Amino acid sequence: MSSIKVSTTINGDSVDFLCETDEVLLDVLRDRLHLTGAKEGCGTGDCGACSVTVNGRLVCSCLVLGAEVEGAEVNTIEGMANGDALHPLQRKFLEHAALQCGICTPGILVASKALLEKNPDPTETEVRYWLAGNLCRCTGYDKIINAVMDAAAEMRGA
Ligand code: FES
Ligand code: FES
Repeated sequence: MSSIKVSTTINGDSVDFLCETDEVLLDVLRDRLHLTGAKEGCGTGDCGACSVTVNGRLVCSCLVLGAEVEGAEVNTIEGMANGDALHPLQRKFLEHAALQCGICTPGILVASKALLEKNPDPTETEVRYWLAGNLCRCTGYDKIINAVMDAAAEMRGA
């Protein structure tokens, strides 16, 4: 297997890394760059725990090759807070107790942020459909949905 050099932008910082040609972005983030927020729940694109955005598009990083982010802009959960100031979604997840074990939480936050950037005023049904690919085996989902709806309202200034 041969290594290749990839130049990309992650959470606004220029980053160069070496990876194997068959290495997925999730492993690059976690094992090479020590960005361990994205989690591996399944490795097959079914759980959403590894969600990140690439050029603004929500993707499962377990299904993207590291080599594919050459020249791209990647955003992960590590880039969500602004210094010590949590993103409204992060605050609302805490306020609504929308997490238990936390394994699904980074992926759900990244996915929710992508939704609110596209649609700042989603209905509850739209939130549920958007997050249908993000599995949580702890919370029963209601608290997650409530947190996203509440964050959306705050971000709209409602
Ligand atoms: Fe990528 Fe489950 S680890 S979708
Ligand atoms: Fe445990 Fe969602 S909080 S899987």
